[in-house]
Amino acid sequence: MDALARLRGLIIDDPQGKDFRVHRDVFRDPDVFDWEMRHIFEATWVFLGLESQVPSAHDYMTTFIGRHPVVVSRDDKGELHCFINSCRHRGALVCHRAFGNRKYHVCQYHGWAYDSSGRNVHLKDREQAGYPPSFDKEDHDLVKVRKFAGYRGFLFASLAADVPSLEEHLGEARWFLDLIADQGEEGVECVPGRIVFRYRANWKMQLENAVDPYHFTSTHASYIQVLERRQKSAAADVPTSIYTNIRNAGIRRGSFAFARGHAAMWGDTPSPQARALFPSYESLVARHGEVRARWMFHTRNLSLFPNMQIAENASLQLRVMRPLSAGATEMAIWCIGPKGEAAEARRQRIRQYEDFFNPSGLATPDDVANYEDCQSGLAAWSIAWQQGHVRGFEASVAGADRFADEIGLQPERSLIGPVELGDETAFHPAYREWLRLIEAGLREDESRAHVAARGAT
Ligand code: FES
Ligand SMILES: [Fe+2]
Repeated sequence: MDALARLRGLIIDDPQGKDFRVHRDVFRDPDVFDWEMRHIFEATWVFLGLESQVPSAHDYMTTFIGRHPVVVSRDDKGELHCFINSCRHRGALVCHRAFGNRKYHVCQYHGWAYDSSGRNVHLKDREQAGYPPSFDKEDHDLVKVRKFAGYRGFLFASLAADVPSLEEHLGEARWFLDLIADQGEEGVECVPGRIVFRYRANWKMQLENAVDPYHFTSTHASYIQVLERRQKSAAADVPTSIYTNIRNAGIRRGSFAFARGHAAMWGDTPSPQARALFPSYESLVARHGEVRARWMFHTRNLSLFPNMQIAENASLQLRVMRPLSAGATEMAIWCIGPKGEAAEARRQRIRQYEDFFNPSGLATPDDVANYEDCQSGLAAWSIAWQQGHVRGFEASVAGADRFADEIGLQPERSLIGPVELGDETAFHPAYREWLRLIEAGLREDESRAHVAARGAT
């Protein structure tokens, strides 16, 4: 079977027939992983980090775009650059640390040196080299990533030049980024300290889980029990977590499906008084109005296709996914908060973050254990299809519901229901974009192969 036919057999997206299915090979096939690298991660906008992570001249951070190691660096004029972390000489990494400050990046192999804008400023023993004239005509600077842009301090890049503008790519999902950025008068920042961990399962387990309300009461049952025990020894009116009282009736969960693979899950916060942001409520209303301030206190998980998520629930977390293989993923996670936050609120934010997130928290390990369990179960190659993508189908409506209307959004689909509804329709936009991008890439491969074949005859 050719690649395009095989791809089309992996997703069933049939709104009329009220069916949406994902084939299990999507999570376990190394060929599919290769398509994802070439036609998604190396062909569209991916998230890199926050501008506030490189605040000063010569600050840098390293990350990946698909398989490409890249550096984000601020030059001496304050301008940001994104270049591929590979020496032009023989390919060595020029930058080895996750973060730092360096005026020059000197390759440790043969000593070529680049400044903080990526310009080659030194080629060791050039005069004695006996280079042919053609060598001097070549550009020896680090290779710039073709598209590099920021939105409200969130930095994105694309290896491919033929992508829409970043604003168009983010589309309506920008509203949810605004809601994060507007929490501080000068935006948000990463709390110092980053956790990187790997799990033995596909990256799309994480992609789905961030907008999966269905898993919470079963996966995090022990967390809920801990909260209930804690609450017995705490003052009745002082919730210890935003999830305190999660079992109370009437908690709603909604979702918005956006274009280009993005989705948001939102809902009532059982105990908003526990939020680090709570003391700022009045000033947030004054700055942003009652509706936007109220939405800042809703529980909100945003998933920006393909590699970034922001979870504002127990605390505020930024996640970046880096797929390593069909069955392995690296996660980089940060606690984020408003710049200039009061010390007591920051302390509360960090304690809540540590309590719920991190590999040492009470929730993240349960999520990750389940991803790995799923991947182990998916080794059963004789089973073709998942049954995990149609909950909420009957509750989902095309376009905006009254909640989207309230905030002036036009999502592709909206849904609201009790938390027990356990919506799975918020996964659909990611798989639609997944299919669209890989299909476009495979078509290009095909037409290139035809041109090459014609040239050969
Ligand atoms: S590989 Fe960098 S100087 Fe040789
Ligand atoms: Fe979870």
